[in-house]
Amino acid sequence: MTAPKKLFIKTYGCQMNVYDSERMAEALGGQGYEQTQVLEEADMILLNTCHIREKAAEKVYSELGRLKPLRDAKPDLKFGVAGCVAQAEGEEIMRRQPAVDLVVGPQSYHRLPEMAAKVEMGEAVLDTDFPAEDKFEHLERRPKARRAPAAFLTVQEGCDKFCAFCVVPYTRGAEVSRPATRVLEEARDLVERGVREVTLLGQNVNAYHGGMTLAGLIRELAKVDGLERIRYTTSHPNDMDDDLINAHGEVDKLMPYLHLPVQSGSNHILKRMNRSHTAESYLKLIERIRAVRPDILMSGDFIVGFPEETEADFEATMELVRQVRYGYAYSFKYSARPGTPAAERKEVPADVADERLQRLQALITQHQREIQDNMVGRELSVLVEKAGRKPGQMLGKSEYLHAVHIEDAQARIGEIARVRIVKGMTNSLTARHL
Ligand code: SAH
Ligand code: SF4
Ligand code: F3S
Repeated sequence: MTAPKKLFIKTYGCQMNVYDSERMAEALGGQGYEQTQVLEEADMILLNTCHIREKAAEKVYSELGRLKPLRDAKPDLKFGVAGCVAQAEGEEIMRRQPAVDLVVGPQSYHRLPEMAAKVEMGEAVLDTDFPAEDKFEHLERRPKARRAPAAFLTVQEGCDKFCAFCVVPYTRGAEVSRPATRVLEEARDLVERGVREVTLLGQNVNAYHGGMTLAGLIRELAKVDGLERIRYTTSHPNDMDDDLINAHGEVDKLMPYLHLPVQSGSNHILKRMNRSHTAESYLKLIERIRAVRPDILMSGDFIVGFPEETEADFEATMELVRQVRYGYAYSFKYSARPGTPAAERKEVPADVADERLQRLQALITQHQREIQDNMVGRELSVLVEKAGRKPGQMLGKSEYLHAVHIEDAQARIGEIARVRIVKGMTNSLTARHL
């Protein structure tokens, strides 16, 4: 018997890349590849890349430069680039880094087994087509390997919104939804493997229309025995329909956490971003969601220093943050992306953008800290995911997606433990098992 070939995957970017990496490992498993966490062991190194900001894209080339010497010790070692940089830059990658054997865009992963076979024969392979089919549909299910208790499940991919700054509509293509029957099948399969929480993924997940709406899908998933928790991400404010809002008040398994990016609090900037909502319509939406689920924890994304952003525009963003009080929020300095409409516009000076980013992040951190501190003394449910760093400690997630360390660990992995919070920190909570 020949030893299995080893596959090392490094994942950048969003949760959909995390999901895709798992499925790519499964697809290549059929080709005799076994995943390894040890770089030096690898026969194939696959970088699953992100193109969202300039820094993210440039990381790929510096990483490839660093990895290349590994081939001196192992001439048969293959390098592959997958994900959004592969889609956006295609052949350019092989030109900039000739060591690369394989470039594969996110819509072509179901062809990976054939591609890997060609690469092993010494061919260079590039595939960045946009087929209409479900990219993992033909993937034969592996034997029922156990899974961690919380899993991602892609239900929708692509985006038709074309925000003026964003590469996603170009790298992931038009919105496509997976049929609900297939999603439900995958959810049942995950439950059989030990999964108790799924996060439904989509670049624009609430635009889901796979034979039913996202609210309909959530209601169907809630009927799956053994599946205890449902989350979804990322949503667009314009696709939050009444049924989805109501589901937050009606479906117990739907967790009280919502990531709803707004990007800016200034209507002028929102318009220039092509967001097609206003700060007021966004705030109204949150009011309606909080009316059905008062304790919901809000999270969001912000871009600071978008072209033309004035101090007054930025102050409007700060004011929106003060009104919403996010439990978590991600803020980024604007990064011009080639091929997007905003890339043509005059940029805000970097030092001004940096300074605004710091002010925004300080405000967000202050709110996050206050919300975490307010959890002290409360009883929460924690899905236990793994052992913590300290002996006896277990780590999991609360309903609100807080990372929670449980100190006296009679808790088992996969258990939903009732705990009392004893301490709040900025990024996590400490609890006692009840
Ligand atoms: N579909 C999701 C995810 C988009 S990417 C959504 O609509 O929210 C995640 C975040 O990256 C975005 O919400 C935005 O805040 C940020 N982002 C996207 N393009 C960017 C750019 N060119 N510069 C800086 N941040 C960007
Ligand atoms: Fe990008 Fe906008 Fe689509 Fe989100 S909604 S993926 S920010 S274009
Ligand atoms: Fe990045 Fe592509 Fe996700 S650009 S954020 S990996 S969709």
